[in-house]
Amino acid sequence: MMDQADNLRNLINRNNLEQANKKVELSSRVITVTSGKGGVGKTNFSLNLAIQFSRFNKKVVIIDADFGLANIEVLFGILPKYNLADVLRGEKDVEEVLTDGPMGIKFISGGSGLKELSNITEKQLNYFINNFSYLDAISDIIIIDTGAGISKSVVNFIKASDETIIVTTPEPTSITDAYALIKTIKEESFGVIPDFKVVVNRADDDDEGDEIFNKISRASSKFLGVHLQNLGYIPYDKFLVKAVKHQQPATLCFPNCEFTKSIEKITNILMDVTVEQSSDKSGIRGFMKRLVNIFGN
Ligand SMILES: Nc1ncnc2c1ncn2[C@@H]1O[C@H](COP(=O)(O)OP(=O)(O)OP(=O)(O)O)[C@@H](O)[C@H]1O
Ligand SMILES: [Mg+2]
Repeated sequence: MMDQADNLRNLINRNNLEQANKKVELSSRVITVTSGKGGVGKTNFSLNLAIQFSRFNKKVVIIDADFGLANIEVLFGILPKYNLADVLRGEKDVEEVLTDGPMGIKFISGGSGLKELSNITEKQLNYFINNFSYLDAISDIIIIDTGAGISKSVVNFIKASDETIIVTTPEPTSITDAYALIKTIKEESFGVIPDFKVVVNRADDDDEGDEIFNKISRASSKFLGVHLQNLGYIPYDKFLVKAVKHQQPATLCFPNCEFTKSIEKITNILMDVTVEQSSDKSGIRGFMKRLVNIFGN
């Protein structure tokens, strides 16, 4: 239960946040990482991408939106004290649920956040959205690692995002599920189609990566009128499997492996895009507002 002191503290915090935002006048780039089929490499991609971004001196926050399944924290080998659900309950500020990862990266564990989000009151909601604006002030890039599948929650996350990266593998099931996800988003978006980028993971080589991308891209453009951007491929790499077993990001413990090299290439492409998109970025505040609106319906 919140007492008066808590309320006051929240109020003060909120004012500080609003002032901080005004001063900084920045909004972070929000990138959602998702897939049709599960187990295709989203979480490993997200956290290694975060590490490469931090090598460009970008401040990165990862949000684990695969609620109920502790993905990011297991791969970092770090146990967070609090999670997103604590913020939604109004018991913690966003600041308090941020956990330190390597290379200055911070992450937020999802916990049972999604359940909380559907039961939230309007007052809690405003607190939540304002509280999240803090992330705009402390980060350049926010990466949201979602669960797999065409669940309502994943679809909502994509619809709220400015930028979505779909991860697929060359397996036919993964390809058709990626296409089905794009189709669902297109059907539910009523004209505002999100900007989709595609990564082909566990490909044999560049040629296979391109072939798989072209398959999805041709179908999307022909039948859905949705344009996809190719971010490139990531090869199958046993060093990534080793890194997972050690609960260490591959880009840190195997800086010269093929997996790391391909993440570097993809990061370079994404770094180039920033300038072009910076003008209409709405940051985490815009993202959260849209998300909450969508969930509220
Ligand atoms: N490029 C790769 N080379 C070799 N193995 C890989 C590669 N990418 C992923 N894997 C394997 O796939 C496993 C699942 O990866 P990850 O947890 O990142 O997938 P995910 O899409 O986040 O799964 P989920 O849908 O359950 O959240 C890894 O633990 C690893 O063994
Ligand atoms: Mg995952």
